[in-house]
Amino acid sequence: MLRIGVLVSGSGSNLQSIMDACERGDIDGTVAVVISNTADAYALKRAEKKSIPTVVVPHDAYPDRESFDRELIRVLKEYEVDLVALAGFMRVLTSGFLKEFPGRVINIHPALLPSFPGLGVRQKAIDHGVRFSGCTVHFVDDGVDTGPIIIQAVVPVYPDDSEEELKERILALEHKIYPKAIQLIAQGRLEIIGRRVFIRDLKKDESPCLVNPPLDV
Ligand code: GRF
Repeated sequence: MLRIGVLVSGSGSNLQSIMDACERGDIDGTVAVVISNTADAYALKRAEKKSIPTVVVPHDAYPDRESFDRELIRVLKEYEVDLVALAGFMRVLTSGFLKEFPGRVINIHPALLPSFPGLGVRQKAIDHGVRFSGCTVHFVDDGVDTGPIIIQAVVPVYPDDSEEELKERILALEHKIYPKAIQLIAQGRLEIIGRRVFIRDLKKDESPCLVNPPLDV
């Protein structure tokens, strides 16, 4: 059983999808601890409802990122975590943190990387006028949203979308692909070679996914 530590800062809907998938048996694992850098994150309540241990590590109580990260590492080790899943965690981790969990830190991002890394990316996608956006689960490396990609899902974007509409469209898929990525790790099916993540026994689908606007418009 994979022991997952989930790092959160906000609502925790992705955390919810991971906890639910563990409960259903869709992930061969368990959420061992949820850590938040803010005490009022609703994600903490979601974990408490499932009787999963929660820890608040307030980033502003530490003089620098290194000491904040050292405390995160200490808690994650205390709960014997195998995999660290960032789920709306609004802090950038140091390379010192990543060295403690090599190839074992993943993140979900609400855009199709490498397009639109960073913050505010749904509005950026709408403003750019792209026809598609989506979400990406990737391994975390020293950059911001730059690590090897595990899984992506695509949604259409419409020029009159509000940020909220696009957010909801993307979130529905985030809740599907994050548990799937974690299960692939739990099954030991992933191998990172350079930037590429190979998946053992992958069933390939050659059919085109989406065209927007549709060809029969
Ligand atoms: C998600 O959109 C995720 O892609 C991004 O932060 C948001 C977290 O949402 N990294 P939630 O807290 O899981 O509801």
